[in-house]
Amino acid sequence: MYVCLCKGITDNQIKDAVYGGASNLRAVRKQLGVTTQCGKCGIYTQQLIAETLNAATVGGQESQFYAAG
Ligand code: FES
Repeated sequence: MYVCLCKGITDNQIKDAVYGGASNLRAVRKQLGVTTQCGKCGIYTQQLIAETLNAATVGGQESQFYAAG
């Protein structure tokens, strides 16, 4: 599913970026260019990053992330 229509970035690309070590919006933006035009995708991108990190922390057997806070 497309998350960022301006840049044509999908949820899977964002998840892959997070699994690759981009653990916040700034890192994902730098890597993929998400939110760099209209910015409407920012909220969902942040939510997707959090969900991906949470899934990796809670359910992943090979977790490389830690829950913040
Ligand atoms: S939808 Fe992502 S910058 Fe516009």
